[in-house]
Amino acid sequence: MEVKTSLLDNMIGVGDMVLLEPLSEDTFIENLKKRFDHNEIYTYIGSVVISMNPYKSLPIYTAEKVEEYRNRNFYELSPHIYALADEAYRSLRDQDKDQCILITGESGAGKTEASKFVMSYVAAVCGKGQEVNKVKEQLLQSNPVLEAFGNAKTVRNDNSSRFGKYMDIEFDFKGDPIGGVISNYLLEKSRVVKQTRGERNFHIFYQLLSGASDDLLKKLKLDRDFSKYNYLSLDSATVNGLDDAASFRTVRNAMQIVGFMEDEVQSILELVAAVLKLGNIEFKPESRVNEFDESRVKDKNDLKEMCELLGIEQFVLERAFSFRTVEAKMEKVSTTLNVAQAYYARDALAKNLYSRLFSWLVNRINESIKAQTKKPKKVMGVLDIYGFEIFEDNSFEQFIINYCNEKLQQIFIELTLREEQEEYVREGIEWTNIEYFNNAIICDLIENNKTGILAMLDEECLRPGTVTDETFLDKLNTVCAEHQHFESRQSKNSKFLTDHSLPHNCFRIQHYAGKVLYRAEGFVDKNNDLLYRDLSQAMYKANHSLMKLLFPEGNPAKVNLKRPPTAGFQFKASVGTLMKNLLTKNPNYIRCIKPNDKKAAHIFTDSLVCHQVRYLGLMENVRVRRAGYAFRQAYESCLERYKMLCKQTWPQWKGPAREGVKVLLTSLQLHAEEFAYGRSKIFIRNPRTLFFLEEKRRQCLEDLAALIQKIYRGWKCRTHFLLMKKSQVVVSAWYRRFAQQKKYQNIRCSALVVQSFIRGWKARKLLRELKHKKRCEQAVTTISAFWHGTQVRREYRKFFRANAGRKIYDFTIQRIMQKYFLGLKKTMPSMSPIDKSWPSRPYGFLDGTHKELRRVFHLWRCKKYCSQFTVEKKATYEEKLAASELFKDKKALYPSSVGQPFKGDYVEITKNPKYQKLNSLAEDKVLLADVVSKINRANGKGAPRIFLLTKKSLVLADQKTGQVKASVPLLDLSSVSVSTQNDGFFALKLKEGAVSAAKGDFLLSSDRLIEIITKLHRTGAASADRNQIKIDISDEFLVQFKQDKVCVKFIHGTPKNGNSVACKRKNNRLLEVSVPSP
Ligand SMILES: Nc1ncnc2c1ncn2[C@@H]1O[C@H](COP(=O)(O)OP(=O)(O)O)[C@@H](O)[C@H]1O
Ligand SMILES: [Mg+2]
Repeated sequence: MEVKTSLLDNMIGVGDMVLLEPLSEDTFIENLKKRFDHNEIYTYIGSVVISMNPYKSLPIYTAEKVEEYRNRNFYELSPHIYALADEAYRSLRDQDKDQCILITGESGAGKTEASKFVMSYVAAVCGKGQEVNKVKEQLLQSNPVLEAFGNAKTVRNDNSSRFGKYMDIEFDFKGDPIGGVISNYLLEKSRVVKQTRGERNFHIFYQLLSGASDDLLKKLKLDRDFSKYNYLSLDSATVNGLDDAASFRTVRNAMQIVGFMEDEVQSILELVAAVLKLGNIEFKPESRVNEFDESRVKDKNDLKEMCELLGIEQFVLERAFSFRTVEAKMEKVSTTLNVAQAYYARDALAKNLYSRLFSWLVNRINESIKAQTKKPKKVMGVLDIYGFEIFEDNSFEQFIINYCNEKLQQIFIELTLREEQEEYVREGIEWTNIEYFNNAIICDLIENNKTGILAMLDEECLRPGTVTDETFLDKLNTVCAEHQHFESRQSKNSKFLTDHSLPHNCFRIQHYAGKVLYRAEGFVDKNNDLLYRDLSQAMYKANHSLMKLLFPEGNPAKVNLKRPPTAGFQFKASVGTLMKNLLTKNPNYIRCIKPNDKKAAHIFTDSLVCHQVRYLGLMENVRVRRAGYAFRQAYESCLERYKMLCKQTWPQWKGPAREGVKVLLTSLQLHAEEFAYGRSKIFIRNPRTLFFLEEKRRQCLEDLAALIQKIYRGWKCRTHFLLMKKSQVVVSAWYRRFAQQKKYQNIRCSALVVQSFIRGWKARKLLRELKHKKRCEQAVTTISAFWHGTQVRREYRKFFRANAGRKIYDFTIQRIMQKYFLGLKKTMPSMSPIDKSWPSRPYGFLDGTHKELRRVFHLWRCKKYCSQFTVEKKATYEEKLAASELFKDKKALYPSSVGQPFKGDYVEITKNPKYQKLNSLAEDKVLLADVVSKINRANGKGAPRIFLLTKKSLVLADQKTGQVKASVPLLDLSSVSVSTQNDGFFALKLKEGAVSAAKGDFLLSSDRLIEIITKLHRTGAASADRNQIKIDISDEFLVQFKQDKVCVKFIHGTPKNGNSVACKRKNNRLLEVSVPSP
């Protein structure tokens, strides 16, 4: 029967000590060692986890590991604390069973670390969500705060918990965390005032001094230097691997997450500072008064600062350190304190202050993390309590701690050993009794209400008269002398009279984990835990709200004369409650073992481990497990779980569950000794058998799942198929219909085509026949018409022959003329007088008519055109006509003037004020005004002049001033001479003897020569009283200069300066005018 599980496969040594073969203490230790050497620090004894402290970080706490162990069977994977945490969490969530995780072991064995792993695992696998995450974070972050205030470096552990801690994590029905409650047990407060060599005070003092900002330290009136404080041991002030400053930041951050207010944190730090200050207060003896020793504060500076910090009046505190008031029966007696008493009072105050602060912190955290709902909760308790302690010098604290461990061992025995055996008896299963050591007897020695050590200590403390540690020891010696586990030199038991290892002032108890020697000194004091009322009243008077809260008994209004319960009593009571609490829960054990005393990795000290294995009772544990059965389960749940493994029990078993299980297991053919049938439970001897059942079940479930899958898939496929089939029928019906439709349409189309062809053919045939018939009829008609015509013509020919020719001719001519005129009408040219086009003539005999029509049309067109003219336009055209008559084909300049309109006034003489005078000369009308070039008669050079032509005269005037240079009446003008060339040169010839002719004829030049001369000519022609001005056009003419006659001759040349003419006087007789070549 091979079951594949990783717990059993590839194991280093044996993963579960129950399977160890052969079983002996040596093999047990050997197995632990082998596993430890391979970094396998966890080993099972059944469901108990043994954890070896590796003293080094191992990669086995990663998120992947969490996933690996999540929801897996406990024995499925290699041993791990996560497997235990998962098992506990799942049975809490799924079976509603409250759980507790009991972590035991020596100081430094890894309990606190284990508790953190458990918590972080549960946090990782439980539900998620904003609210849940906040709760988780708060629960996890309570650890750093409590560790800072409650942990310290000891010789065994650099981060040793100096208080016991039990934390209940509360879950809702879904398994989501909703809150928690922390209980703390007996803080080792003596550490506040004194530490043994190599140890430190609580972490928070060092963290505050290293990590606080200068500002904060100043506020708290503290100095960063550790050596300034009496309460801080110096030899191990700094610890390797501990960064106090960083831890301080972590703690403050954690406090914030847990929900501490800023002012609360401030108050807490003030109290921490006050404790440090308190340690620095020193006393000196004062002179005796009334025969009592008195003391005074030595240096009041620290006292003053402390009082300032807490808001206490200095004299109140000072007095509380010097006097002690005892009240009894309404009487107040005040006694002075000597130096030793003053120191005692100071230390008592420091210890009380710190431990009360710690308890307040726990309560405050509880306040923050408590569940916000009243609904039923499931609880998982995690107990991390100080381990068994055996020091060289053991005192009251060790006694109390070891008592607590005895009680835990009791629970372990109760639940695992006794409970197991009793269950076998209850179930009626054959059982060979296993001997184990029951430590109830030791518990009784300590806690018995009458004869127990704690009861006697209380008795001594409450007894009137002188009570000392010696009287207490005496009492123990008398009462406990007979007890097997009590040893004392002075007891009546003569056994120890000569035992020198047992000093007189000590007693020894044989704990389940070994013998421990306790020194009686300090027991009474520590149990009393007295704080003088004067001090608590002084503290109550402080102007500091937290301080007031910590010392309620200092309130004078509530003076309570009853003694407070002793420390031992309180502890016993709280341990009692804890035990009751634990007994209601399903326990899960983690038993921590320390491999060596050096806090070193890789060292395995056999003797040390052996010692722990022994006192933890691990061998007995294994034996009970092996003798018994590894697994048990009620018949009903067993049947429910495995019924699918057998045909008879699946799916329902009708008979009693026990029978069903029997049938089931028998059918599986397992060895009979593997099982025992109890009254209500089935017991399975070997975990392997269980694994086998589980594996079978898993396979069977797989098969069942496959079956369900198969049926479901079959059903699904069939439904799908039917649907497809139905769809296919519909589709094919539609398709067939469509195909038939198509086919029918095709046939119909073809029929129509054939039909149309046939009809067409028939129609064409009919048409042909009809046409033929019609042609025949026409032919007949034509022939008969011809025949008829011939006959008629034959008959009438004699009447027509005389004048038919003439008539036909006229008719034809008429037709031709008609056609000609109608054609002409259509092709008539445009109405523009310059349009030269004219349609061509169709017949030669119409040539004359055609030309005549063209002339007539043109004349008519011109007349039409002229009739549109206004008077001005008409005058303009007349002028243009006159110019044409004068110069056309006579002067080369003429064509360029045709396109230029004759404006007349080019210098705007009427508008220009300069020419006002000139204008007035014109009387009524300026015919022409323009700038011309007057040519000097002597040298031929030109000068600009205004040329003004009026009806009666022409005037030459200065261009700039308008001053008249010469005025010539038109009557004096005989003729004008111009060249045939393309120039503007002209000569005005005057009549001989005229007044204006004194200097001779005028030679002028203008581009507008054509206009000037035309106007001059027309003005002359218009007036009746003078002869018309003659125009000579010739390239050589004579002009009269004074007496001389000069010949003006035009030659071709290149006139300079872009002028059109250049005149040069050659001699007295000749003036040469160069004009541009044509
Ligand atoms: N599982 C672990 N892995 C690594 N180091 C561990 C582990 N358990 C314990 N340690 C180391 O041992 C030291 C002491 O452990 P701790 O839990 O404080 O002991 P205890 O609470 O039993 O006194 C820790 O500070 C840590 O350095
Ligand atoms: Mg611890």
